[in-house]
Amino acid sequence: MSVSTALPHSPTAVESGFDVERIRRDFPILREFVHGKPLVYLDNAATSQKPEVVIDAIANYYRHDNANIHRGVHLLSQRATDEYESARKLVQRFLNAGEAREIVFVRGATEAINLVAQAYGRTHVGPADEILITTMEHHSNIVPWQLLCKQKGAHLRVVPINEAGELELDKFERLLSSRTRIVAVTHVSNALGTINPVKDIVSLAHARNIPVLVDGAQSAPHLAVDVQDLDCDFYALSGHKMYGPTGIGVLYGKAALLEAMPPYQGGGDMISSVTFEKTIFNKIPHKFEAGTPHIAGVIGLGAAISYVNEIGGSAIAAHEHELLNYATRTIGAIPGVKLIGTAREKAGVLSFVLENIHPHDIGTILDQEGIAVRTGHHCAQPVMDRFCVPATVRASFALYNTTKEIDALAAGIEKGKEFLG
Ligand SMILES: Cc1ncc(COP(=O)(O)O)c(C=O)c1O
Repeated sequence: MSVSTALPHSPTAVESGFDVERIRRDFPILREFVHGKPLVYLDNAATSQKPEVVIDAIANYYRHDNANIHRGVHLLSQRATDEYESARKLVQRFLNAGEAREIVFVRGATEAINLVAQAYGRTHVGPADEILITTMEHHSNIVPWQLLCKQKGAHLRVVPINEAGELELDKFERLLSSRTRIVAVTHVSNALGTINPVKDIVSLAHARNIPVLVDGAQSAPHLAVDVQDLDCDFYALSGHKMYGPTGIGVLYGKAALLEAMPPYQGGGDMISSVTFEKTIFNKIPHKFEAGTPHIAGVIGLGAAISYVNEIGGSAIAAHEHELLNYATRTIGAIPGVKLIGTAREKAGVLSFVLENIHPHDIGTILDQEGIAVRTGHHCAQPVMDRFCVPATVRASFALYNTTKEIDALAAGIEKGKEFLG
């Protein structure tokens, strides 16, 4: 399996000079109290917290540089444009994309996937064609394809997963058909933590000339991602899950594909000329950035990427790997706990159910202890159906979490069991 993740023989986080207590001081919200208890934030797969540098970058933009981009000759507009386009280059380097014009700013992973489903799908998918996804997709990587199938009379095909929550790669291969027009697969499952062998998936699909979209909402914050090495055609991410602001995300697309695709939305900035008879579209990536974009969001995302780069992706991955191992041992050992998602390759997500206790009830007790976890279907209802559970409790880790917080989670679960059991 070839995935970009912390390998068992990678240096530990501490060996890499990772100091979690120093990192925690960068995140002002971690000093909050919830119901009189220090906040233990373990809902990072839903959204991460923001370091001071990101908050400051957004405030500084509004305080000193606020202007619309690409349109003004005045100094503020030039400054805003420079900051916006510098952030694009930061994202390019972060994903190791070949060119900055392959980076399109969107609202989030959801919008990135909808963009591809509509702009690519409109021209490449027809009646009786097939789109291949997997059982472990987030609703954001299911519904846009269902909408496209409905519009075009195409069919959605779904690759199953095994009891551990791993993709059945042999079945994936068998489901690739002469009618498959695109494969859309998550890199990391938000509900199970499974890391998919995306590089293998891409090479199997490419052998049949089928492009692959990778939903990177849960991988960009946690793994070193190299889109050229993965060779994926599209890659979607959300800024707010990687220490950046909400409302900003990225679609990476290979230049040749983006150039050949029609626009997603029409409006200002995505054109080079307009008459009532004919509109000539702007070059990529601007062709896909209609209207005034989320300038402050892009600048905030750039600051988040600089922050992560400074700490180092592999040190972060090693730390989160240690947290996951510790949590799997500690929480997994609690009588009555059943882990959902036990893949060999996992990122920092621990989903579980408790015998005879509904996840929402345990979530409420944990909240009283100041512990924020997610309970529910995690926008992945087919995963819940696969494991025959209505919901799970999900603890998900980020670079600022500690083993002490996992101990607090374990104590909170024991307390919940006493109270509810
Ligand atoms: C795997 C995955 N894909 C897509 C999304 C959608 O992200 P957003 O809501 O930021 O667009 C999420 C959000 O949780 C996710 O976990």
